[in-house]
Amino acid sequence: MRAGATALDMTAIREPQKTIDPVRLDADERAEMARAAERLGFDSVGAYLRHLHRHAQAEAVAASDKTDYPADGIRTFHETSLGRMLHGDARSYLFRDASAQSVDLIMTSPPFGLVRKKTYGNEDAHRYCTWFRPFAEGFRRVLKESGSLVIDIGGAWKPGTPTRSLYHFELLLMLCEDYGFHLCQEHYWWNPAKLPTPAEWVNVRRVRVKDAVNCIWWLSPTPWPKANNRRVLAPYSAAMRDLLKNGYQAKLRPSGHQISDKFSKDNGGSVPPNLLAVANTESNGRYQDYCRRHGLPIHPARFPNELPEYFIRLLTDPGDRVLDPFAGSCVTGAAAEQLGRCWTCCEQNESYLKGAMSRFQDEGGSSSKTADLFLGGKATPVGKKSFYTINPPCSLPVDETSVALVQDGGLNRPPVAARRNRKAE
Ligand SMILES: C[S@@+](CC[C@H](N)C(=O)[O-])C[C@H]1O[C@@H](n2cnc3c(N)ncnc32)[C@H](O)[C@@H]1O
Repeated sequence: MRAGATALDMTAIREPQKTIDPVRLDADERAEMARAAERLGFDSVGAYLRHLHRHAQAEAVAASDKTDYPADGIRTFHETSLGRMLHGDARSYLFRDASAQSVDLIMTSPPFGLVRKKTYGNEDAHRYCTWFRPFAEGFRRVLKESGSLVIDIGGAWKPGTPTRSLYHFELLLMLCEDYGFHLCQEHYWWNPAKLPTPAEWVNVRRVRVKDAVNCIWWLSPTPWPKANNRRVLAPYSAAMRDLLKNGYQAKLRPSGHQISDKFSKDNGGSVPPNLLAVANTESNGRYQDYCRRHGLPIHPARFPNELPEYFIRLLTDPGDRVLDPFAGSCVTGAAAEQLGRCWTCCEQNESYLKGAMSRFQDEGGSSSKTADLFLGGKATPVGKKSFYTINPPCSLPVDETSVALVQDGGLNRPPVAARRNRKAE
């Protein structure tokens, strides 16, 4: 059984089927199920029935646990005209407070399955999926059919070896296979400012490279969540601007793609890639100043506001409801507020919510909807954004005869002298 698996993991069902049992359905039932299967993106009625079965089992498990999430497990900490910060266990909100199918976007970053734990507590990678199950069930419950679930999740190293945990991929499989979510598109958040860790594998033994991307799983209850990439267009490159100005000759690319003359139509910007480049560097912003002034802990795992801003713009309309069940310092709530969306943020650690208040106050301390976090819901002008360079692989020359591979794969630490020499290089 794979790590984090439980009796609900119907792995055997995915084996090739040796026998087929007939199921008695009348013609109308069958046609109705075929329609539902197609609408939800299943390629057969069988796959649809399997999904319903797993979903019913998962629901039964979650139902038996729901008494653990009492209605008074969560309380309002702060309200604005658009949103609420809730203090307590998000599961109380998901199962007790929230109405079913009331949320358009869940935008969140849960505690990761880390070996080196953060102060707010992290689940072990090997039991991560089991821990996540009630949240998955609650997400299904509160999301609208047209809605999306966006999870920013970092990878983790296995203890003691330079190898990676699979926990975030297992989470993705579990959400799709056991809870019926569809993977709309994975995104990757590249943080150019990430430090090269773990130092032992990256700096000392030199057998791994810097881990600088988080996975962002964009999922949905049906294959057809509302979205429009025109909301998140990127500025054209200089080459494309030139082409728009001077025209393009329609031709067949070496890749086999036929590029038509429509290519030279100005669509207001280019469709962005699923790689989001945002340096998470802010250390002296307004949030940090506020926390320092009030003796509050600065949240150690904040995501940059560009992440929720991008997905809120891509996936919701003004007035829609955005939920962050693992709110931390409430970056999602602040982004939603600025973009005119209704929002709910749940956080179990009250001191993080106290710090998050800075995001909803003007300098004088009064509650303000127009805090200067974003430019009034309009996209930040290109001139004010940072740009990053990714060098093509192998862009520095190297003399391979003087740089040997680490033959034991890093099993043994290099002697101190060898490390000193390397540093001097
Ligand atoms: C990775 S952090 C989120 C950081 C946030 N995106 C930000 O930018 O500030 C995850 C947060 O989830 C909170 N958390 C963990 N379990 C929770 C639960 N059951 N209910 C509410 N919050 C929870 C933790 O206290 C932690 O602050």
